[in-house]
Amino acid sequence: MKLRTIENLDLRGKYVLLRDDFNVQIVDGAITDAFRIEQSMPTINALRAAGARVAICAHLGRPKGARNMEYSLAPIAQYMNIPLVPDALDRDFMADMRDGDVVLLENIRFYAGEEANDPAFAARLAAGFDLFVNDAFAVSHRAHASTVGVAEILPSYAGKLLASEIEHLTRVMENPARPLLSIVAGSKVSTKIGVLKALAKLSDTMIIGGALGTTFNYALGERVGNSLFEADQRETALEIMEYAEQNNCRILLPLDKGVAKEFARDCPRMNKDFSEIEDDDVIIDAGEQTTARNVAAIEEAATVIWNGTVGMAEWMPTWSYGSFAIARAIAARTRAGKLQSIVGGGDTVAALEACGVKDAITYVSTGGGAFLEFIEGRVLPGIAILEDR
Ligand code: 3PG
Repeated sequence: MKLRTIENLDLRGKYVLLRDDFNVQIVDGAITDAFRIEQSMPTINALRAAGARVAICAHLGRPKGARNMEYSLAPIAQYMNIPLVPDALDRDFMADMRDGDVVLLENIRFYAGEEANDPAFAARLAAGFDLFVNDAFAVSHRAHASTVGVAEILPSYAGKLLASEIEHLTRVMENPARPLLSIVAGSKVSTKIGVLKALAKLSDTMIIGGALGTTFNYALGERVGNSLFEADQRETALEIMEYAEQNNCRILLPLDKGVAKEFARDCPRMNKDFSEIEDDDVIIDAGEQTTARNVAAIEEAATVIWNGTVGMAEWMPTWSYGSFAIARAIAARTRAGKLQSIVGGGDTVAALEACGVKDAITYVSTGGGAFLEFIEGRVLPGIAILEDR
């Protein structure tokens, strides 16, 4: 895939509409993880240095077309130390801009026209700009006005982050060092069928964990107690296992679990084999045998693709055990130069950060849903429109 990029453009004095994904977690007005913002800086700095006048368009959460200040981008503007334009469609700010200036437009999802990709709304958003740069890989799977609509109106280009995401993910999918191990976890089989099949086709081994793994264990008739899983996905789980077998992919399911009597952070942890699980037990993390087996699988791999924590990794230290062991094993082998590691998804990246190994990973994607859809081989509308044909 060849994209139109910002290199070699004459940007001095040009008004650039830049789409970034700043959908970060904000608690009590403070940004808890600025990874997506930091990853967006190379493009912002390049546009600045080239003398462009940049207005960043971004969203936060799902305010559903209403101006709900709970989702204001003010904390992000403050963090970046740039002015916030309170109405994303107001163009008065342009008159005061000098070359190299950057402003942030207020949450674009305050307008119903954004998610509807309304052409009239896209035209108002594009008004006054000379060109559009999309650096928001993480929202490129959405055909919204600020990802697709404006790209149909303005000359449009991929930013550095978006281009780098595609380069790294394409490389691992097209020419991975083998054996390739994928680790997929999270809560729902129903949202991951496509990616599970795509990874079963691509991988030599696939670990399925978390509540996703519990659904597979249930499908095989194991005891799962009062845990989170999807009983109605039994057939799908069996079908995915059969598909993996046809594609010579070895599936590794949980062997035992970290359980408690309640789904609560402070509940005492017990390690149980499936045969020992009682009706009122709740699975919260991977078990000890499973974790040792997962680490051993990582130690045999040359490439790892990881999405989804295998337990409540944010409930440290009791329930982060299984996920942190995976993170540390991947990091150690990557540091030793024996592994190419690709990690994506908000919770998974947060787990890497929490155990201090994010910098050791070969490539950490800013995408969550977009990362999964890209790996699944789907056409991402925000990217397709930037293709250089
Ligand atoms: C994300 O956080 O994955 C992206 O910003 C997309 O958000 P959405 O799922 O609300 O469209």
